[in-house]
Amino acid sequence: MNSPTQLARDIDGKAIAAQVLSEVAADVRELALQQVTPTLAVLLVGEDPASQVYVRNKILRAKEAGIRSLEQCLPATTSQAQLLAVIAELNANPEVNGILVQLPVPAHIDEGAVIQAIDPAKDIDGFHRQNVGGLVLGQDVLTPCTPSGCMRLLHDTCGDLSGKHAVVIGRSNIVGKPMATLLLQANCSVTVVHSRSIDAAALCRLADIVVAAVGRPQMIDASWLKPGAVVIDVGINRIDTEQGSRLVGDVDYASARTVASAITPVPGGVGPMTIAFLLKNTVTATRRQLLRAAELATTHTSPQEA
Ligand code: GUN
Repeated sequence: MNSPTQLARDIDGKAIAAQVLSEVAADVRELALQQVTPTLAVLLVGEDPASQVYVRNKILRAKEAGIRSLEQCLPATTSQAQLLAVIAELNANPEVNGILVQLPVPAHIDEGAVIQAIDPAKDIDGFHRQNVGGLVLGQDVLTPCTPSGCMRLLHDTCGDLSGKHAVVIGRSNIVGKPMATLLLQANCSVTVVHSRSIDAAALCRLADIVVAAVGRPQMIDASWLKPGAVVIDVGINRIDTEQGSRLVGDVDYASARTVASAITPVPGGVGPMTIAFLLKNTVTATRRQLLRAAELATTHTSPQEA
């Protein structure tokens, strides 16, 4: 345990996200010199209140960074065919650089079919199988935003991650799996712990880096941690309190900070990074689409025109 005066330091996701957003804003200004405004289409199906808040935040931050956003709120009764038709239109629209369908979609719509319908070049969530496969192969593809944000927090906190043992708790397609892949690419030894793991806490105690993404409030406490571990808490859970309710992570912050060397608070840790990397991906997608269009224009120029 740390001595009482030696609590883990907070990893300031708000400050690091602000840095990323200022990089994004600089990229947007550079694109403006070419008369290009990166444009993000956000689709929300249904009236889930949490999704409405997430979408509103994404649009607000996009605007602040100079990114144009096109928001479409579709009723919960929208059929899968109707949603796929909207996505096909956005895929075909050269003015749209990024497409995000806020998840979850209503139960009657096949989430997988929706994700695979998005043009991989506009898939700023990095969920399309072409981007997922590219990530595993170590190619420079659009990468899921939350894991990318966690990697930036880790690099800012630890520098080089080579040789470190990282334990990822949770194996979702959105966070756990891509997180494990990115850590492996950064030369970590990676263990993925999940609901069928035997003695998850013992595995976690071997970790220099812990990334918690299970969606269970305050599940990971000091007893799961090696002294000096760096803890990234992806969880955002609302719990009831005597005063009403509050947000907590998957990590018991008060307990974990007595043992860890650095930890992300909730809120103010990973959350702001997800939106920052969504906008970074939008700029990256825009740049690549411009390059691709220029390449195609060169290839298709006839000898007489050249
Ligand atoms: N719902 C919760 N997280 C995400 C995310 O990262 N992307 C999308 N599209 N939906 C989400």
